[in-house]
Amino acid sequence: MRVLTVLGTRPEAIKLAPVVRALEAAPGITSILCATGQHREMLDQALTCFALKPQYNLAIMRHDQTLSEATAAILDGVSAVLAAERPDWVLVQGDTTTTLAAALAAFHARVPVAHVEAGLRTGDTCTPWPEEMNRRLVTRLATLHFPPTAVAAAHLRAEGVAETAILVTGNTVIDALHALRARLDSDPVLGCALDARFGFLASSRRLLLATAHRRESLGGGLMRLCTALRLAAGRGDLEIAVPVHPNPAIAQTVHAMLAGVPHVHLLAPLDPLAFVHLLRRAHLVVTDSGGVVEEAAALGRPVLITREKTERSEAVKAGGARLVGTATGAILTAIERLLADEAAWAAMVRAPNPFGDGHAAARIVARLRSAEVPALPVREPAARSLRPATTRLRVAMPRPRR
Ligand code: UD1
Ligand code: UDP
Repeated sequence: MRVLTVLGTRPEAIKLAPVVRALEAAPGITSILCATGQHREMLDQALTCFALKPQYNLAIMRHDQTLSEATAAILDGVSAVLAAERPDWVLVQGDTTTTLAAALAAFHARVPVAHVEAGLRTGDTCTPWPEEMNRRLVTRLATLHFPPTAVAAAHLRAEGVAETAILVTGNTVIDALHALRARLDSDPVLGCALDARFGFLASSRRLLLATAHRRESLGGGLMRLCTALRLAAGRGDLEIAVPVHPNPAIAQTVHAMLAGVPHVHLLAPLDPLAFVHLLRRAHLVVTDSGGVVEEAAALGRPVLITREKTERSEAVKAGGARLVGTATGAILTAIERLLADEAAWAAMVRAPNPFGDGHAAARIVARLRSAEVPALPVREPAARSLRPATTRLRVAMPRPRR
């Protein structure tokens, strides 16, 4: 069985790393890895951290590109890889442009799609945008669905997906987190090096770790968050660490509003090991990231979700996360309450992790191995393989920088 895994962004690399490893170790499976390069430095950090070496890197990222341009480039590039490799399955994760375009390319090539982290829904196609629509469309395109939780599986059933095509696996981010935690715990030199690297974070002050990148928050929502962080920093009893997403629309706002504010530390995107190190140190996490909510819940770090809606309702229900919206006052109040109320903070720390047991990748690969490859009658003519328009297709890294 030939399985082509396609990934393009930092969270896809982190969440698919355990699956790719399990595919590589599975007898009878040939694993082929294609990076679309939707992200560049952030993807490289994650690939390096998990020692993943894609056979293909389409290097499609451009600084000013639109969603449609990225979609078109990925559709074109993945189609060429499909024509060259003729896999039995295409594996995608989550809800990014890479996920949607790769699933669509597979559908065009009549290759069945297996969808990791299927079934997440807010119920609102504008939030998150465009991810809620991406994942709904991928559900329609996929043959096998791997929801992380029972809640996600219920969403799929409600949309008419057959029970036999669904397997609840837990979220693969927990598998990845276990691997990172094991590395940090087994290597005291690494721990000391990371402590030294973050020596500027005074241990006498509580650490607030914040991230933000959602497109629907660009502009107003992001500015209101920055104002809340500036006011929280003004208390003087916190260290606020903010790894800044390289999207220029985010980086410019964050730097304009927070650079030079005492106790606020604007950092370049961290490699996953360093990020998990800080996450474990954090007293409190403020984020609009999906993966960070899942990791914080698994590590028992209280998390405030700065969004209007979340598809990670399991974390809110379990008690480890609170959905606080994007108003400055609401964010600041939630931060201050948790800093003041030791019992409320401790209850969040003790909340159970609803996202899995760290064996999601094994379940996914076992299900794939037992799956009959659906007979799909016709394939795209092979003549389209490696035609000139696919010059973006490059075998392995490194690739040219622009
Ligand atoms: C993407 C995903 C989002 C996911 C997020 C994880 C889509 C539509 N969005 O959002 O679902 O939660 O990744 O981080 O697929 N950039 C760099 N270097 C990098 C990465 C990004 O410079 O390594 C800059 C580029 O200017 C790029 C911009 O960030 O054009 C936006 O990147 P893009 O992948 O389009 O969207 P994200 O906001 O990162
Ligand atoms: N992460 C990282 N470095 C950072 C910030 C986040 O490695 O500086 C990791 C984090 O541990 C999580 C993932 O990136 O696994 C989340 O990705 P992101 O927030 O970009 O996207 P989302 O999960 O919202 O799709």
